Amino acid sequence: MSRYVGDPIVFTGNAHPQLARDVCAALDVELGCANVFDFANGNTFVQFLENIRERDVFLIQPGAKPVNHHLVELLIMIDAARRASAGRITAVVPYFAYGRSDKKDQPRVPITARLFADLIQTAGADRMLTMDLHAGQIQGFFHIPTDELTAQQLMVEHFQRRGFDGVVVSPDFGGAKRARAAADLLGMPVAIAEKRRTSNDDRAEMLQLIGDVVDRDVLIIDDEIVTAGTLCEVAEMLRGQGARSIWAAAIHGILPHPALERLAASPIASVVLTDTLPLPQERRGAMLETVSIAPLLGEAIRRIHEGDSVGALFR
Ligand code: R5P
Repeated sequence: MSRYVGDPIVFTGNAHPQLARDVCAALDVELGCANVFDFANGNTFVQFLENIRERDVFLIQPGAKPVNHHLVELLIMIDAARRASAGRITAVVPYFAYGRSDKKDQPRVPITARLFADLIQTAGADRMLTMDLHAGQIQGFFHIPTDELTAQQLMVEHFQRRGFDGVVVSPDFGGAKRARAAADLLGMPVAIAEKRRTSNDDRAEMLQLIGDVVDRDVLIIDDEIVTAGTLCEVAEMLRGQGARSIWAAAIHGILPHPALERLAASPIASVVLTDTLPLPQERRGAMLETVSIAPLLGEAIRRIHEGDSVGALFR
């Protein structure tokens, strides 16, 4: 029994309306009606077209490109909901952009992940619902309750259904824990590549592989794919070390051009992604498969609304 009026009410910005529609279908509620658009002068206008007084409001807006625009759109939606006397506002950000900017690791650089966490809270969000943050510590940038879901289990089930049997590979030390968790769920060994970035130009260099992949099918697991440089480099290394076949899975697919072309030219047989970000039709080549997070997100929203455990989803 929720202390808010009626069912949870879900609205979407322009970052990923299809995901919001799918979440509503999973929740069996209508998507809330709102106008969210830009005037000719580039200013964003938001208006909720139904009464949201004392309602439990969920605003779905992942950090899709153009990232800064969609983040500001979310802030304006939160402000509008606050001023419309919403009972509670949850920012649902399945992909939290700027996750890689979570520390001051070079002189005179910002911590942009923290900045955007502050902005979301200052705008008036009461809760945050997100998924597979680049680094779990980003949760600590929020002082409002923050639920971080993971799509790891969905990925694992996908590969279990396919009968995958091989070695799970992390493309860098930072992802070792994630790969280890997936390997444990799959009952397989893990190998870890050592990656180095020497500049801010998105290029990744593979130094060494810790683990044995000779004549094994391998599954590279990462949190996100941007340029696909990391995946392609590690795939080349794995091929060089005698891997039999190479598969890849990541939660978030950003994939600016020419990431897909790069993947297609790599030794990777297939890449599995979730739909935390929109994947336009032309990007779904034969080698891209999608696992939907909408049912998981819908169930988390239902639990938050009804005051049930979200953690129990992952036990
Ligand atoms: C980095 O630490 C992340 O886990 C990913 O490996 C990275 O964001 C992927 O980026 P790209 O596809 O541009 O190499």
